[in-house]
Amino acid sequence: MPILTIETTCDETAAAVIGEQREVLGSVVASQDELHSIYGGVVPEIASRAHMERILPVIDEVLRRSGVALDDLDAVAVANTPGLAGSLLVGLAAAKGLCVATGLPLIAVNHLQAHVYACRLAAGRDVFPCVGMIVSGGHSSLYRCQGPLDFELLGATIDDAAGEAFDKVASMLGLPYPGGPSIQRAAEGGDPKAYRFPRAMLDKRDVLDFSFSGLKTAVRYTIAGPGKPDFECLELSADRVADLAASFQEAVVDCLVGKAMLALEKTGLDTLCVGGGVAANARLRAALEAAADERSVTLHIAPLKLCTDNAVMGAIALERLRAGRFESLDLEVLPGLVRKGEV
Ligand code: KG4
Ligand code: ZN
Repeated sequence: MPILTIETTCDETAAAVIGEQREVLGSVVASQDELHSIYGGVVPEIASRAHMERILPVIDEVLRRSGVALDDLDAVAVANTPGLAGSLLVGLAAAKGLCVATGLPLIAVNHLQAHVYACRLAAGRDVFPCVGMIVSGGHSSLYRCQGPLDFELLGATIDDAAGEAFDKVASMLGLPYPGGPSIQRAAEGGDPKAYRFPRAMLDKRDVLDFSFSGLKTAVRYTIAGPGKPDFECLELSADRVADLAASFQEAVVDCLVGKAMLALEKTGLDTLCVGGGVAANARLRAALEAAADERSVTLHIAPLKLCTDNAVMGAIALERLRAGRFESLDLEVLPGLVRKGEV
């Protein structure tokens, strides 16, 4: 029987109905981009209020589209970690409410593991064991993934996430939110070698962590110098924006590809799975493919529509269902960033 999956970790309200064989019977994603764009980033309070308005219509809609009634479901799954506390709470409360009303069991989804599982879904076959790389708005992390539910953190960003850096640099360059797609577009006509931005820790072979905060500051000093500039008053030519965007993007890509390859080397694994919003980046996808080819690594990158947040990747809950790993209605949200030593 199918399961219902719910995803409200950040600023997408999403639900999906997934069949026993991982087939997608229905998927709905209500984006909040237009609510946050004027702020250049996600405003947590606005996100949780918008989730409140959207969660029930989104669930209704996905059940309608999939032609599945609540009675036909086997379980309700919900992402309860990591993410924004207020956003996570809305999804969890909705899932618990459905479980109380129907008697269905509750399954917890780890959002980061789900991003990697998007690769499993797209591959249509087992992809484990593998190195899993999650590059999103909140995380840039490398995991040794022995199985779909067996993740060991190898390295993570020590400050900004890759997507966060994309969003902040886009805002400095006057490009619209979300910054990743805007920078990618602007970079198309730019020269990636125009500016030599730092690649933090890339040459440190004993480190699998990332740092993007210095890169962000380097872009800022290049366009405005120190002090507290008003970015809105900066006049940057389209050519300069393109060169800055391309050079910044290249620096992020070099770090992500470099550390992913190092993680493969260190673990001795030969499969790499990449998910998360930044995995939608065309330059990153091309660079990963080239690096994987060179080393005979089997590469799985989540398909574009499964990179950014969605509930389909919550199909990882089927693995828990099969393992009999259900949650009590006391399940809590575990917000916050995952750093080394935590999971
Ligand atoms: O995985 P996601 O939807 O949400 C989180 O779990 O954080 O990732 C959102 C992030 C944003 O920072 C967005 O700018 C970035 O993914 N992103 C991209 C691209 N599309 C989305 N970054 C680079 N290139 C893209 N094409
Ligand atoms: Zn995400």
